[in-house]
Amino acid sequence: MKKKYNKWPITVVSISIISISSIIFFSLKMNNFSLGHGSMMDSMKSLTSNSLKEKMVENKTRLPIPPLLENKSLNPNTSDFTLNAEKGITSFFPGVKTETYGYNGNFLGPVIRVKKGEKVNIHVNNRLNEATTVHWHGLEVDGEMDGGPHSPIMPGSQWNPSFTVNQPAATLWYHPHQQGKTGEQVYKGLAGLFYIDDNNSEKLNIPKDYGVNDIPLVIQDRAFNSNGNMPYSTNITSMMDGAIGDMIIVNGAIKPYLDVKKIKMRFRIVNGANAKIYPIKLSNGEPFYQIASDGGFLEAPVKLDQLILGPGERAEVLIDFSKHEKGDELSLLGDGVNILNFNVKEDGIDTTEIPTHLTDVNMLPETAASKIRRFQLEGMGNMVSINGKKMNMDRIDEKIKLGDTEIWEITNPKNMMNNMSHPFHIHGVQFEILSRNGKEPPANERGFKDTVVVNPNEKVRIIIKFTHKGIFMYHCHILEHEDQGMMGQFQVTDN
Ligand code: C2O
Ligand code: CU
Ligand code: CU
Repeated sequence: MKKKYNKWPITVVSISIISISSIIFFSLKMNNFSLGHGSMMDSMKSLTSNSLKEKMVENKTRLPIPPLLENKSLNPNTSDFTLNAEKGITSFFPGVKTETYGYNGNFLGPVIRVKKGEKVNIHVNNRLNEATTVHWHGLEVDGEMDGGPHSPIMPGSQWNPSFTVNQPAATLWYHPHQQGKTGEQVYKGLAGLFYIDDNNSEKLNIPKDYGVNDIPLVIQDRAFNSNGNMPYSTNITSMMDGAIGDMIIVNGAIKPYLDVKKIKMRFRIVNGANAKIYPIKLSNGEPFYQIASDGGFLEAPVKLDQLILGPGERAEVLIDFSKHEKGDELSLLGDGVNILNFNVKEDGIDTTEIPTHLTDVNMLPETAASKIRRFQLEGMGNMVSINGKKMNMDRIDEKIKLGDTEIWEITNPKNMMNNMSHPFHIHGVQFEILSRNGKEPPANERGFKDTVVVNPNEKVRIIIKFTHKGIFMYHCHILEHEDQGMMGQFQVTDN
């Protein structure tokens, strides 16, 4: 009898161990499947309620074009902008109100447009009930102006960064970087575009009329519950590979349309999703031309039938609608799903071209590097780390000398606990990719980059020149991984 009673705790413990480990194993297995697109894992995640989906009418909303932010400066060589981070209400579904965040509006923010050489003053007002920061993703400025987790703006207060833009024309973006809160604040709607023009971009005979033949496309995804809200879950299962919703939104609209003329159009595509890597193509399979990557123009246009963009990455592409007939309809596919419909409506006069040469991209020679650093990306869910460490605000992980050039080797070893692609991003710099697993990177990655997707079992070597002082971050741009500590700090000093 005594023995029998004693067995109970052991049995309970073993049963719990078995069930807990099978849950973990099951989650891991599911995660492996989710590496393919349209996975089993997705179906376990929070999905948009069917009653809402029924309300959605495809192609009823015109693609929203974010406004250009007004420059209040009277001096031609300076710009003066004001951004207000605020709460809003957005209608993603007809008649349904969703609580969101936005800059100077309900969802997303205006486009900040500056010219190389300009001095830029920005006033950021935090009208939220929580602290936030604004980070200029891709901008080469000192650490104090970078808007990372060291520069929180308290509710009701203002942050006034000021910097001179000294890098080539590019499509950059801005978003919050509040420690542990980046994913949630971006998910609610805080993100916007930051364009740099220069003499070259103004001279090139490519489409450049904002909102007319030069169109921004911010691609994100969200899931909505039946009352229209976008719950940001921190549930471990749904966060295993980051927050992924089943509704893809472009500039804040679900399946919008854009009427186009029979001309060449330029699209500046930003993967602004929290976690999803998007393969992007046209529904009829026709090729398009990538002309720029994260940090600016490629040397020459690269013909592609598919573009893959990880969270944080950008690409500018040219699509030629001139061969189409009036009345043709085609769409842009994101992960195999229609995300934007093009209606070819009328002829048009097109004097633009697809140039054979866009800019000179001078590759830094490996011999210029004074140091090689290694970064090992690992884990998923809340088990993520870089070189076995999690972000600690009080720890500087790497010390770098101002003006130095370095090679960084980023690895992502594949094993049972680690089988995800991680988009690795570095603040305050634009780097060049030397190789992927020893091979030259594809043509559309031979330009300046600030974010690079590192796939399982890959070693990516990049070369970077550090031209700005201060404390900066490097991290995985799956925002849930970043918030879980897949981030480190480097300090650039001149001594
Ligand atoms: Cu786009 Cu550290 O971020
Ligand atoms: Cu950044
Ligand atoms: Cu990651």
